[in-house]
Amino acid sequence: MSSRDKSRDQQKASVENVDPNAAANAAKDAATFAEASTSGHAPVFLRAVMDIFRQATSPVRWMFDGTFGRGGHSGAMMAEWPLAKEIAFDWDEEAVAFGAKKFSGAVESGQLKLVRANFQDFAEERAKFPDVRFDRMLLDLGVSSPQLDQAHRGFSFYHDGPLDMRMDQRLSVTAADIVNEWDEQDLARLFIEYGEVQKPFRVVRAIVNDRVARKPYESTKELASLIERVDGWQKKGSHPATRYFMALRLKVNEELDGLSKALPALIDSLNDGGVLAVITFHSLEDRIVKHIFKEHLRHGRLVNKKVIKPDDEEVRLNPRARSAKLRAFEKGPTT
Ligand SMILES: C[S@@+](CC[C@H](N)C(=O)[O-])C[C@H]1O[C@@H](n2cnc3c(N)ncnc32)[C@H](O)[C@@H]1O
Repeated sequence: MSSRDKSRDQQKASVENVDPNAAANAAKDAATFAEASTSGHAPVFLRAVMDIFRQATSPVRWMFDGTFGRGGHSGAMMAEWPLAKEIAFDWDEEAVAFGAKKFSGAVESGQLKLVRANFQDFAEERAKFPDVRFDRMLLDLGVSSPQLDQAHRGFSFYHDGPLDMRMDQRLSVTAADIVNEWDEQDLARLFIEYGEVQKPFRVVRAIVNDRVARKPYESTKELASLIERVDGWQKKGSHPATRYFMALRLKVNEELDGLSKALPALIDSLNDGGVLAVITFHSLEDRIVKHIFKEHLRHGRLVNKKVIKPDDEEVRLNPRARSAKLRAFEKGPTT
């Protein structure tokens, strides 16, 4: 056993010694993870989020999930606190339709209110429930596995589909619009800033030449093949188009601006002792969360001093968790 494994086991043992419910909670979370994964999306950091939520001090009356997806985290939260009510947002029509069916009992009983909305508009949406303050809040950012895997959504370079990438089908700009209409400099800047690609210039030049000489880009495979041809495989296991696609997705959905706008409003709506947990998959997103939590330290505290990263077991069970990071903020008196 490596020294890292040993110290993790010691940490686990000491937590379980302190918390008599730890073993039962771990078993419950493992069962919820297995059940939720049958919906096509394995919830990331399910156990860590639930542990943070269980340890928070405010009684749980109202919960908020801004990124409902397949309801993996929401399902666990509603099972843990069946008397609490939850408001959940997702801006994807398919996610809301799926949730309304899977959680029809909770919707009918009034435990769950599922809204097709952008969490960026949380402050405006909140006007519809002005008296509610929240005790547990979650954002689990990015795309769900079904969005990624369904070719027609256009997120994947492995499944050929239209170059779309809109999480909300009402958005007007698609990835194809950006690839076919932006000028060379703007495209390069996008791939450098959002994709963290160091030298996108040859790919961008090829895109611009090709779209005029040949025809506009329409499918994910067309773009992925071009990137593969120009850049080649630099890193085993990571498709050369990964970062380019990430940049396009972040821009199409304006994910970074949405997060910056939402976080202060979410913190503002927390009860004292309530907690907001945020799971990110991109360093730029994590930087925004870290910065905004820091800016609000006069209203509360960081639940964990250091960002939480997945351990080997989490990544083994859920490879999507590889790049995930978790931060949590607890509202309340700071002295
Ligand atoms: C990673 S998945 C969430 C998975 C979920 N926690 C679960 O366990 O099933 C992210 C979801 O958030 C939604 N989403 C992303 N950005 C959003 C936004 N700005 N407003 C509302 N929903 C958003 C996506 O459509 C997707 O369904």
